[in-house]
Amino acid sequence: MKRILVTGANGLLGQKLTALLAREFEVLATDLQAELLAPEAKTRYQPLDITKAGQCREVIRDWNPDAIVNAAAYTDVDGCEEHKELCWQVNVRGVENLANAARKNMAMLVHVSSDYVFDGKNGPYAEDDPPRPLGYYGKAKLASENAVRLTGIPYTIIRTNVLFGVGNRVKNNFFLWAYHSLKDGKSINIVTDQYNNPTLAEELAEGILLSLRKSAYGVFHISGLEYLNRYEFTLKIADAFGFSRDLIRPITTDMLKQKAPRPMRGGLKIEKAQRELGFSPRPLGEILEMLKQQLEG
Ligand SMILES: NC(=O)c1ccc[n+]([C@@H]2O[C@H](COP(=O)([O-])OP(=O)(O)OC[C@H]3O[C@@H](n4cnc5c(N)ncnc54)[C@H](OP(=O)(O)O)[C@@H]3O)[C@@H](O)[C@H]2O)c1
Repeated sequence: MKRILVTGANGLLGQKLTALLAREFEVLATDLQAELLAPEAKTRYQPLDITKAGQCREVIRDWNPDAIVNAAAYTDVDGCEEHKELCWQVNVRGVENLANAARKNMAMLVHVSSDYVFDGKNGPYAEDDPPRPLGYYGKAKLASENAVRLTGIPYTIIRTNVLFGVGNRVKNNFFLWAYHSLKDGKSINIVTDQYNNPTLAEELAEGILLSLRKSAYGVFHISGLEYLNRYEFTLKIADAFGFSRDLIRPITTDMLKQKAPRPMRGGLKIEKAQRELGFSPRPLGEILEMLKQQLEG
């Protein structure tokens, strides 16, 4: 494995992935914008809209990668309920475009999916648990997994959940939002009934690197170590950064009136990735300490 193409390279995962993979492979990073936003990633960059089949074919033909890692997605879960066509174009058609171009160029495809393919009745979930998405985002992610499988190319599907971390001009993730709110002394309402295992973007990137090194085909769950609810996660953030716990008010999901239904007991079992890939995530406490260094140096 020598050459990699990364899509969605300016997203949170994409930035960490590009920086990490570029240390070991020749990487062409791509996204919608005119330039690469990850300052630490020293690599080539070219704009690529994955919804454009012709563009995908050309870029993949010219770069001729051994593997394509798809970190591009429309990730606004509530937005997907409102903008179904956009969600489908990016999250399903885009993936089909990449898979078809991969087949032509005999490249493997690593595609990133979500625990939202499950209904959250009895998580955390293992790779072979039956999916049953609740909302449109989850339905599209499941359809994208099926599209990858149907193309007949060698593939790795990596499911993850509650991705967090710090990046250059990245969208607000749950951690960043909680961090900035608490830092500014704002009270925040946090749900006590949504369970996941939050995943540091760098650790997901590490898991993807491990899967590439081993050409590990199939489905893998790559997520954080600790299974906890959002309220507990936020308390840990407050404690790590020395913010007041009094600012955090416990509520339940029904009070939020969100457009998309959320899996309540979501999250992912990671034993397969630990066993077969040697994936070894750090405890949340250590991760928050590291983020404290990054943010407050
Ligand atoms: N975030 C989570 O909690 C979470 C949980 C489970 C799974 N995942 C999955 O993990 C992966 C990475 O997520 P992330 O949080 O890093 O997402 P992100 O920060 O939203 O990054 C996605 C990137 O894809 C780009 N993109 C959107 N449409 C595109 C298109 N048509 N062509 C090319 N690029 C396009 C986005 O650009 P714009 O910003 O300009 O739109 C953005 O730079 C996604 O597959 C996501 O579904 C995320």
